[in-house]
Amino acid sequence: MADAPKMFTPEFLANPHPVWKHLRETAPVVPVVYPGEMTIYFVTRFDEVRSVLADTRFSKDRSALTDGDLRPERFERDERLAAFHQNLNMVDPPNHSRLRRVVGRQLPPRKVRALEDRARAYARELLEKFAETGKADLIGDLVLPFAEKILGDFNGTDVLTAEENRFMRDKISLLISPPYDLRLDDFEVLKHEIMEVIVTLLERREANPNDCVFSGFIAERDAGELSELELFALTITMLFSGIESVIAFTGTALHSLLRNPEQLELLKARPELLQNAIEELIRYDSGTQIGTFRFTREEIEVGGVAIPAGSTVCPLLAAAHRDPAKFANPDRLDITREDNHHLGFGLGIHNCIGALFGRMLAGIAVEAIVTGLADVRLAVEPADLKWKPGLLHRALFELPVAFAPVGVPA
Ligand code: HEM
Repeated sequence: MADAPKMFTPEFLANPHPVWKHLRETAPVVPVVYPGEMTIYFVTRFDEVRSVLADTRFSKDRSALTDGDLRPERFERDERLAAFHQNLNMVDPPNHSRLRRVVGRQLPPRKVRALEDRARAYARELLEKFAETGKADLIGDLVLPFAEKILGDFNGTDVLTAEENRFMRDKISLLISPPYDLRLDDFEVLKHEIMEVIVTLLERREANPNDCVFSGFIAERDAGELSELELFALTITMLFSGIESVIAFTGTALHSLLRNPEQLELLKARPELLQNAIEELIRYDSGTQIGTFRFTREEIEVGGVAIPAGSTVCPLLAAAHRDPAKFANPDRLDITREDNHHLGFGLGIHNCIGALFGRMLAGIAVEAIVTGLADVRLAVEPADLKWKPGLLHRALFELPVAFAPVGVPA
């Protein structure tokens, strides 16, 4: 058994990859003990992570749990809060299949692609605000407002004020990537705070319908396709799954390029590599480090290790992505890499329904920096960068850079 605290030190947050390597080299499945009588079985190697993601014997429904703090009966003294563990990510078929179709109806590829030009123009507008100054915080000045505006409008959070949106996002960020010492009662308080904002959001959206995702969900509820609780659950799904993942990944993508300046220069010289670069940046340091928890209803063997019934299982995407048995020179960022079948958007029935959107938005933000700024470099020592605590997302608070203060090319 390994101890969880090692996964929360400042050194770990600055660079988790040595810990992932250690776990991968220890065993294909490593049980790690957390506070609250909870053991998490981390799956560490590519083939095993792949097989767990695809294996429908693993449940996403917490009622399969027999011990630990995640059991549903430990939560949800308020009935509405049950929506938090009935979001798309936490239900099994047949409910999952039905709810996934509802979400899919709101995310058709043509609707996502139709946003591309507007998103590119908005990234450029943000860049123009700081392009002549020679310095910027790429998270606060670009990544965050970009994702909030494009994904926020798409979902329909524009009926909230900037303060309400920021309050909600901060709380969501804490809930999905909690620091080590967050207590069970704190989770309950956070859920209440988020739920209050969601109730306001849906009330205002109902009074002001448009073609956004949340108006679509409300119409599905009115047509009898969704219960009231499911309307809340799917709203939570969209709020939790999209923006934070895009912000985390765009931040790690830019960070990886800045730490590997020859790859940044290569991308500048060969912009046609952008899509390939995005795939490699996801493999190299995705921002979404882990798959969400799975639960066992029966004993399941993975890589020769028996995981008991009633356990919590976590596929370690970031460890799988540096598995030398799968990727040549896995610790090297190589934007020309061809054999790159990563698991950065998951696999199987719970794979990322927003992958097209995520790739597009991250690509536009990276392209804006690579083509729009000259001689861009980190403005602080790498060790001074501040990373958010928590396992799910590897996300920067800030990414200060300096660059040649030139005008944005037409
Ligand atoms: C680059 C950005 C993104 C990354 C790296 C990412 C990553 C992932 C991963 C790894 C999963 C699978 C989790 C698992 O099986 O445990 C997932 C699921 C999901 N993602 Fe994304 N995602 C991104 C962007 C988005 C966006 C933009 C949206 C929505 C617009 C979205 C919505 C979802 C949803 C709803 C699920 C759950 C699907 C299900 O359980 O059926 N994601 N994402």
